[in-house]
Amino acid sequence: MSKSVIRRALQGFQAYTPGEQPPDGEGWVKLNTNESPLPPSPRVIEAIKAAATDSLRLYPSPTAQPAREAIARRFELEPSQVIAGNGGDELIEMCFRAFAGAGDTVAYPTPTYPLLEPLCRMHEAEPSTHPTELPWELPPSLGPDPAPLKFIVNPNSPTGALFPMPDVESVVAVSSGVVAIDEAYVDFAPQSCLPLLEHHENVVLLRTFSKSYGLAGLRIGFALGPRDVIEALSSVKDSYNVDRLAIAAAVAAIEDEDHHRELVEEVIKNRGELARALAEMEFDLVPSATNFIFAKPPKAAAAVVAGLRERKILVRHYDREPIAGWVRITVGTREQHETLIAALKEIL
Ligand SMILES: Cc1ncc(COP(=O)(O)O)c(C=O)c1O
Repeated sequence: MSKSVIRRALQGFQAYTPGEQPPDGEGWVKLNTNESPLPPSPRVIEAIKAAATDSLRLYPSPTAQPAREAIARRFELEPSQVIAGNGGDELIEMCFRAFAGAGDTVAYPTPTYPLLEPLCRMHEAEPSTHPTELPWELPPSLGPDPAPLKFIVNPNSPTGALFPMPDVESVVAVSSGVVAIDEAYVDFAPQSCLPLLEHHENVVLLRTFSKSYGLAGLRIGFALGPRDVIEALSSVKDSYNVDRLAIAAAVAAIEDEDHHRELVEEVIKNRGELARALAEMEFDLVPSATNFIFAKPPKAAAAVVAGLRERKILVRHYDREPIAGWVRITVGTREQHETLIAALKEIL
């Protein structure tokens, strides 16, 4: 990127690099971006087809109202406590717009979702990072941090570990600013922080349809929170941030609870099988509450990742400390796991 055109605050800026997305149909085993190994509900596909009509000439509902209402019904909240976004990522960005600007600090435990760092840069906010000692323990310094915005990715990525709800609540209770709990992976975990909404006015939960609903290709997520927090997010959002097809899909997806449950159960079962296979090959593992496994191979991670890539298998490797020796492997189908394990046996 040319230094001469980008604004001064972004010179030398390291953009977030999304996981590799090779063209469809080239036979890659994609275990690098935590997509669902199973397809979305057939009712979602029908809803998208039904929405693909002449009405696409009209803008969508600016508040994604049908989706908002369906999500509110599902979580027994008011629609005023729900906002939809163009993926969880847009909701994260909206938190910056609403709660932390130039000169503010934004606090979060590390390691975590690497998108937060470039977003701080873009908003000229200062990251206030709190390294975790153990992946499932929140750093004690996070609560007292006076940042007006904190993020807790729970369960966390890339570690896959779940911070216990009482620990998260302790941070929320002593924080003067807003605490955004990114629950992108929570459907694969034993517990959500949803009950915190009953007692706290400074918390917002961020969710996505990308993982447990099999809809990463559509770009839709939502946030749940107190009315004031949702209103603040709403006031900074783009006018028509969720398109008609995504709204129709979100309604169908949230209403097909059976399909959602089956997808989650299958991923959890496959996760157990994959974890056992990796442990047998002497990988170190963090217990996962997500649809991926964070694992340290018994050989240099970079070499393992390169060996897998040669065999058209993609996993995620963040080549930086303190997680340089680790890889993040999305839970796939049984068939994908067989391919992965055979390849790992060759490489190791
Ligand atoms: C921790 C975390 N939060 C949020 C997201 C956002 O997902 P999306 O924008 O697809 O909804 C992701 C995606 O990988 C993630 O890992």
